[in-house]
Amino acid sequence: MKNPEANSKEPTTCTSDIQSRWRSPSNIALVKYWGKKGPQIPANPSLSITLSACYTETLVNMQEIDSPDPEVEFYLDGQPQPAFAERLRKFCVDLAREKEFLRYKRLVVHSHNTFPHSAGIASSASGMSAFCLCLASLEEKITGDVKGDFFREASQLARRASGSASRSVYGGYVVWGEHPDVPGSSDDFAIPVPWDIHPLFHGLNDWIVVCDRGEKAVSSRAGHSLMEGHPFARERFNQAFRNISVLRLALQSGDWSAFAFLTEHEALTLHAMMLTSRPWFMLMKPQTLLVLEGVRKFREQTGTQICFTLDAGPNVHLLFPDSELHHVNELLMSRDWLNLSPENIIRDKEGTGPIKLS
Ligand code: PMV
Repeated sequence: MKNPEANSKEPTTCTSDIQSRWRSPSNIALVKYWGKKGPQIPANPSLSITLSACYTETLVNMQEIDSPDPEVEFYLDGQPQPAFAERLRKFCVDLAREKEFLRYKRLVVHSHNTFPHSAGIASSASGMSAFCLCLASLEEKITGDVKGDFFREASQLARRASGSASRSVYGGYVVWGEHPDVPGSSDDFAIPVPWDIHPLFHGLNDWIVVCDRGEKAVSSRAGHSLMEGHPFARERFNQAFRNISVLRLALQSGDWSAFAFLTEHEALTLHAMMLTSRPWFMLMKPQTLLVLEGVRKFREQTGTQICFTLDAGPNVHLLFPDSELHHVNELLMSRDWLNLSPENIIRDKEGTGPIKLS
């Protein structure tokens, strides 16, 4: 799919500032990516839902400079963030070896997240995908072409910045990583799932229960590398391959029980990998366990169609169809043992993907 704003001119040199602006959502993986087999190549395929309320808006202004290596300034809500600017600079310097359009350029980047950083929601998927969509647009403006599909190029760039970001360039259900049951899938970029999804899973709700707002003790990058030499790594990667096929059937047929069982099992396996890494680490908090246990008990009592997943962090994502809204409100509001204040619940749902902003 071509970006409709592409021009078809010959490659040109950028003579004045040009800019690009995108809004890109976060996503939550149902089958998790955890472990790599090369530079940003996943050890197993993953399948996620792109969200709608949790997103990043990014404006990239590109200026010409005299030195060949790209320079980056980064502002979050108007405040300079030198550490993150340095991460983006290294990424761009690396990319500029093959992407001529980045040479002799300074990128001034302004970003805003709709979800507070202190909520402990991973912002790298939305942040890096928004940044890379801007880069792909700038590449298209400068070179007249991104040599292929615009969103595929953006996904490929985003993958190199942060693996899970590759999935955020598409709405709905998205797969990243080659799998025989997913025609067109690739380790290099994500694709929207190439099959129909049962209406039960359309517009799936994802309400995030914020259990802890602190900084993560161990980064995803460190967690991925601890899968090298992990005693259960091989079986985990094989399991993820099998789970893509099982989830495909559940999503196509509308089998909620199979979906819920697999989704929770994937979440707990991710955290079990952390607990059995060498050295071990734990990202769940006491409140996380209370919520998981509460969901399980509540489901047993009411037969409700609610399940959970977890990201690499302590917060619990409650997944449910619209028909269960009343049950979820009952679960969250009426149980004082959860001690939840409204600002600790982020109400999100499946979304349609990034938007180019003027
Ligand atoms: O994209 P990264 O390198 O931050 O890794 C993300 C890993 C998980 O969020 C735990 C799982 C996933 O597939 O999103």
